[in-house]
Amino acid sequence: MNNRLVAVILAAGQGTRFKSSRAKVLHPLLGRTMIGLTLDTVRALKPERIVVVVGHQKDEVERAASGPGVVFAHQAKRLGTAHALLTARPALRGRPAADVLVINADLPLLRPATLRPLIARHRRRKNALTFMTAELADPTGFGRVLRGTEGLRIVEEREASASERALREVNAGVYVFRASDLLRFLPRVSNANRKGEYYLTDLIAILEERGGKVGLYRTQHPDEVVGINTRWELARAAAVLRDRKLRALAEAGVGLADPATTWIDLEAAVGPDTTIGPGVVIEGRTRIGAGCRIDPGVHLKDSVLADGVEVRAACVIEGCRIETGAGVGPFARLRPGTVIGAGAHVGNFVEMKKADFGRGAKAGHLSYLGDAEVGADVNIGAGTITCNYDGVNKNRTVIGEGVFIGSGTELVAPVRIGRGAYVAAGSTITKDVPPDALAVARARQVEKPGWAARRRAKRRPTT
Ligand code: UD1
Ligand code: CA
Repeated sequence: MNNRLVAVILAAGQGTRFKSSRAKVLHPLLGRTMIGLTLDTVRALKPERIVVVVGHQKDEVERAASGPGVVFAHQAKRLGTAHALLTARPALRGRPAADVLVINADLPLLRPATLRPLIARHRRRKNALTFMTAELADPTGFGRVLRGTEGLRIVEEREASASERALREVNAGVYVFRASDLLRFLPRVSNANRKGEYYLTDLIAILEERGGKVGLYRTQHPDEVVGINTRWELARAAAVLRDRKLRALAEAGVGLADPATTWIDLEAAVGPDTTIGPGVVIEGRTRIGAGCRIDPGVHLKDSVLADGVEVRAACVIEGCRIETGAGVGPFARLRPGTVIGAGAHVGNFVEMKKADFGRGAKAGHLSYLGDAEVGADVNIGAGTITCNYDGVNKNRTVIGEGVFIGSGTELVAPVRIGRGAYVAAGSTITKDVPPDALAVARARQVEKPGWAARRRAKRRPTT
């Protein structure tokens, strides 16, 4: 634990520029929220306590941010970043010697390694305040850093003159304060500016005027300073995180055919020698083993794939488990609760839901298996359908080991097919079938010789 460090994350704002009914900090990037990513970064610095200032959609933000060592401060009205920090004061009292890291919640690209030198410099210089700056090619939207005769200042973009706007060194939105100075001078910030808000950045001038030592730390990683204010900036930041994730996977032995169209959530894991085709999306806590093949256009979510699994093109798989060496697709849809056994084969246009599909079993084409237990080495013919819903309840179908289900069969659940049984093609099975039996459940065929010819003759058009 970093005993002298307290962190404050400012996350009360609505994010007006997002034009969203959801608070800005709750928007997702690669399966995580903006606030969640900021928290991860801060947590890596091991502060003794993290204060998250919440306001807009307070309950939802608290839910997303709660965890060990996190306390919340409530900013009832959004009156600016200095006002937000005021609400965190009770959490700082009794720790005058602490360093207080204050960070905007909209900086999801910042890494802990980028923050550490800021804190180190603050301590080395014994400053009252040290803030992070970055030199940006396009500084639009950021507060600009002025280094005038009277010392350091930050001017917000809307208050800046044309020449000030031309400055490219910006305030990153990360500050380290000595707690005693922060507690003392924060209440002196006024809201006499164009927006009528209490700007945290005004503390720089206030501290300097009172003889407090203020310094800046210009980061070597300006690409991590994003301060997301719009959905477009969010999308761009997500692409940066995506590249970081894909690069780490590639370095760990994962084959990527087309990084530009591959999206793998931050929490997903992929084993070495697995190859991933173009247009693949892997979401949530998906775990993929080694030596798998994921073909183009596959969408995987919250699923576990063992080693050597092949998923052919255009499958949608959510909440499933696929055991070693199984093959799925192309065009299969596996819905939550489905388990595909080792070496099993699920082919084209097969849908499963809550199906336990045994090892070595096969369903090659055009089937629906829902609420079903399918034993090992079962063969499911094309067009087999479990009729699992009777309009009120979901019912189970249980198919024993080694069963052969002929094509075009309907299994009206609840129903059991005993091990080793055969079901004739085109059957509608409504009763249990004993083991090793043959079940035929269809009308007998009738032929009427000459019927078609007579019909044609009768309907021959008159001229
Ligand atoms: C802020 C800085 C600007 C800096 C930029 C970096 C100020 C006045 N300006 O501007 O100098 O270059 O960040 O990205 O600080 N918040 C609250 N309560 C409020 C207002 C905001 O908690 O009343 C939170 C927001 O949720 C957000 C953070 O503070 O996480 C920053 O607010 P934002 O509106 O994004 O500030 P910027 O205009 O980007
Ligand atoms: Ca911002």
